[in-house]
Amino acid sequence: MSLSPDFLDELRARTTLSGLIGRSVKLTRAGREWKACCPFHKEKTPSFTINDEKGFYHCFGCGAHGDAIRFLTEARGLPFMDAVKELADKAGLDVPAPDPRSQQRADRASGLHDLMEAASRWFQEQLSGIDGSEARNYLERRGITDAARRRFSFGFAPDSRTKLKTALRHFELEKLVEGGLVIVPEGGGRDPYDRFRGRLMIPIRDQRGRVIAFGGRIIGEGEPKYLNSPETPLFDKGRTLFNIDLAGPASRDARRLVVVEGYMDVIALHQAGIGEAVAPLGTALTEGQLERLWRLVPSPILCFDGDAAGQKAALRAALRALPHVGPDRSLGFVTMPPGQDPDDLLRSSGRAALDALLETPEPLVDRLWHHESSAEPLSTPEQRAGLRRRLLDHASAIADPDVREQYRDELLRRFSDLTRPKPQTQWNRNAPRGGRPFPPPRQASASAKAVWSGGLGSHWTRAVLQGLIRFPGVVSAHSEAIAALPLAGRAATRLRDAMLSAAMLHGELDQEQLNTILAGAGASALEELRLKQSLAFSFTRRDADPERASRDLVLVIETLAARPGLDAALEAATIRLKEEGDEAAFQEQQRLRAARDDADRQLAALMEGDVG
Ligand code: GTP
Ligand code: MN
Repeated sequence: MSLSPDFLDELRARTTLSGLIGRSVKLTRAGREWKACCPFHKEKTPSFTINDEKGFYHCFGCGAHGDAIRFLTEARGLPFMDAVKELADKAGLDVPAPDPRSQQRADRASGLHDLMEAASRWFQEQLSGIDGSEARNYLERRGITDAARRRFSFGFAPDSRTKLKTALRHFELEKLVEGGLVIVPEGGGRDPYDRFRGRLMIPIRDQRGRVIAFGGRIIGEGEPKYLNSPETPLFDKGRTLFNIDLAGPASRDARRLVVVEGYMDVIALHQAGIGEAVAPLGTALTEGQLERLWRLVPSPILCFDGDAAGQKAALRAALRALPHVGPDRSLGFVTMPPGQDPDDLLRSSGRAALDALLETPEPLVDRLWHHESSAEPLSTPEQRAGLRRRLLDHASAIADPDVREQYRDELLRRFSDLTRPKPQTQWNRNAPRGGRPFPPPRQASASAKAVWSGGLGSHWTRAVLQGLIRFPGVVSAHSEAIAALPLAGRAATRLRDAMLSAAMLHGELDQEQLNTILAGAGASALEELRLKQSLAFSFTRRDADPERASRDLVLVIETLAARPGLDAALEAATIRLKEEGDEAAFQEQQRLRAARDDADRQLAALMEGDVG
């Protein structure tokens, strides 16, 4: 039985959620909301909140989230209709007779559910039978365990036009067509035939675990690699996420949700013990899918390929999410090493490698900033105004007023750090004309991070990267300092990150590993690195003594990486000196100043001239 959305809205509106939950849980007021110890998991300090206005509860501890009906079904275990009846009784509403159209839809869908289930069982039998040996071998070659094969109900569609149709002849042919399993050739004449032939079958399930569609993978090589069910009354591709039924509950325990690009990635993650992974079905993430993700966790992590297509997809997801972000709704981004999807990475380097990437996703605001700030040069007023306009446009796309204001402030602050004309200081006296002075001058109260948000100038960035490419062995020994460098531009940052993750996996990088990374970096990035001017250090000059050059490189990297911390400490000491004015504060401030000046001199001494 299905109820109209209007009735359910009315029911929610007439129910005071805190009153309902307060009958079994002790609540305390917290501003416009209520707080309590979460009834869904054990805790001592309350992280469960109820918002009567919106009619929702949310637990920041375990992610439990829902409305009054959900509370009754989950906390008290009532069937949906019983929960509705109980609430309707209290609200003085009559439960209406079901809306005939939605009843019809529900009836049709329920018939299709049986059909899809039967098809899935038949595909599984085929995989176990004689016809399925090639498919079984394929699964084995890909390292899919028997447990995963059963968990995901892998099946096999034999290479035949009629076998499924015949096996399921107790269903009406019309149903088979409606469910997308059988195709009627246009213009008639020929017989209807099975859609999936000679493919490994992966059932796609809805949130409740019911099969609603299939993805069919070709065994081995061939085109198209995947064939999916068409849209049916059960299957709305843009609202479906592969593995949502298993990943939903898993995301509560893990407090994390990972979105990958492919079915096989989800399954590989599951096998590696990461159950909280879903995938869209070969298309860009839709708003409907984002909403689903946000119902589970505040900031799902999207994993994208390192190649241009993957990065474009990441940006597209960022822009699509932007209007809907809120204090508890955002996205994190992880970029895979070049040429590897999560499945490949797990196979080549194990779970620790993937965990390391998932631990530090890039926040949405950084993703936007890096994209826009490196999209165009900024040497003319027009270009700078263009960047400012694009940043403001992004901020104004956000519907939530508080978050919108924060984005506006943050992006404009980064913009002015990046573009404000810099006074000449001792620090940048060696910077070549036309290059961005380095580092940007300190603002009175800005944190070290804020000051560096403009990053190193492009000349410095190129010098460091040229050095690392010449001496890849340096990467693993000084990875922390290298990771801390705020390099200019996305291509440079990606190249650096690729070197770091390779060094993390393999230890000291050799030339061959470096070549793989460079090949993945893209021709234009390399061109830029090779042809453009950088600063003249021993390590950017071909004929320098390699031992001295690599030593200089390490010195420069360590000095640059230490600089923001030093600046922040000096600033804090200066403030203390102004406020307290005692001898100890004076000594400390002097010491830090000397240390900073030493660092300046160090860099100046290593530099050999203006042009490299
Ligand atoms: P494997 O090559 O088996 O490891 O697959 P994958 O999961 O790594 O797939 P890939 O990264 O190539 O593609 C990601 C997703 O895009 C797949 O899981 C499919 O959902 C979808 N996809 C890929 N190729 C095709 C295709 O030829 N047709 C359709 N409809 N979808 C595809
Ligand atoms: Mn793959």
